[in-house]
Amino acid sequence: MAKSIPRSSTIAALDVGTTKVACFIAQLGEGGELQIAGAGHHRSRGLRSGQVTNLDEAEASVRAAVEAAEQMSNIRIDKVFLNMSCGTPQSTRVDVEMTVSGHQIRDTDVRRVLDHGSARYDVNDRELIHCIPTGYSIDGGNGILDPRGMYGEKLGVNLHLVTAAIGPSRNLNTVIDRCDLDIEDRVVSPYASGLACLVDDEKELGVTVIDLGGGTTSIAVFLESQVVYVDTLPVGGNHVTGDIAKGLSTPVAKAERLKTVYGSVLQSPADARELLKVPLVGEDDEDSANEVPKSMLVQIVQARLEETFELVRSHLEASGVAKMAGRRIVLTGGASQLEGVRDLAELMLDKQVRLGRPKLIRGLPESLSGPAFSTALGLLRYGLREHVVKPDHAAMAAAKKKRSLGLVGQWLRENF
Ligand SMILES: Nc1ncnc2c1ncn2[C@@H]1O[C@H](COP(=O)(O)OP(=O)(O)OP(=O)(O)O)[C@@H](O)[C@H]1O
Ligand SMILES: [Mg+2]
Repeated sequence: MAKSIPRSSTIAALDVGTTKVACFIAQLGEGGELQIAGAGHHRSRGLRSGQVTNLDEAEASVRAAVEAAEQMSNIRIDKVFLNMSCGTPQSTRVDVEMTVSGHQIRDTDVRRVLDHGSARYDVNDRELIHCIPTGYSIDGGNGILDPRGMYGEKLGVNLHLVTAAIGPSRNLNTVIDRCDLDIEDRVVSPYASGLACLVDDEKELGVTVIDLGGGTTSIAVFLESQVVYVDTLPVGGNHVTGDIAKGLSTPVAKAERLKTVYGSVLQSPADARELLKVPLVGEDDEDSANEVPKSMLVQIVQARLEETFELVRSHLEASGVAKMAGRRIVLTGGASQLEGVRDLAELMLDKQVRLGRPKLIRGLPESLSGPAFSTALGLLRYGLREHVVKPDHAAMAAAKKKRSLGLVGQWLRENF
């Protein structure tokens, strides 16, 4: 297939989720805005709770999604912005200080202090996914957003490091490699979801994004426009389906349908009277289907969601960011479509909750604009930011003539 668009104007996002793989290919418009050129998604196989469990099956799912997006856009992609749900991504906050001997702080000083801080993730079996400066200090005075050009003896930085276990991350890399794709950058899933569905004021004032996926529930806290905490729990909508299948002795596919059509996390008085036909596992005969009150289904769904939000609450409290994060929660991900989930979250987490769909991007088909696509569309937004500050080498050489900042400056712009 011919490459009809220069690579530097194309951004590709790949969300390898537990229930679906989604691939979006976008082009940059003249004004630097995103325009969707192609999209494809395919049911995931060979993944569980965000982790690859079967390389061949996962490869086939990724290939199918990518090929669909390539066909639609007539663009062949060779690198992607990839989400990370595997390897239990975890946040660590690190504060480091280095002497700058009273001279004016330069790009190289900032780079040195950041390198010093990121080298602190000294856990052998984990790798660094993100290194995000959340604030600087000079001689102990905090609240500095950009220290370059200022004077002081000691330069400090507060870093938010996100690490993930190496083993699961290598397995995911292998799948991507087998699909003949390079990874342009990796972004933890809830961070990407936040970029897709939060408005700037929320990110600035403090907000918690909860992405209710199929095999995972992931959390990202944003404050002062930076992501300050991420976490991933190995439980999601598929566990709800599994509970229904077990609780009502029905096949998984029927349980999934019962969940999406009748499922709710809030009981209503009429639920006890409403009877649902529930086919039994192993019985093909429609007549042998059970009749079950809807209240039983709701009870099962409710129990799992209560447990999930309880886990979210305890993780947020243990992280120490619960207070910093403010009173606002945005729920997204496929399972956020369960009826009543917003009210339950409000009740259990004692915050203001809204449902978040990805912000509109030109050319995005309506069918792919739901909350299940927040991560994938957030990857595009992350990619857009990277492309704007990190053009390819040819473009960079041209740009360098115009700009006085060198490569370190490029890197710094990305981090301020
Ligand atoms: N209308 C709906 N009502 C309730 N649940 C739904 C609905 N549509 C999808 N879901 C659930 O959403 C889940 C899938 O969500 P999503 O596509 O965000 O997951 P994923 O990204 O593949 O997985 P993960 O992020 O956990 O790796 C499934 O459990 C599915 O049953
Ligand atoms: Mg997901």
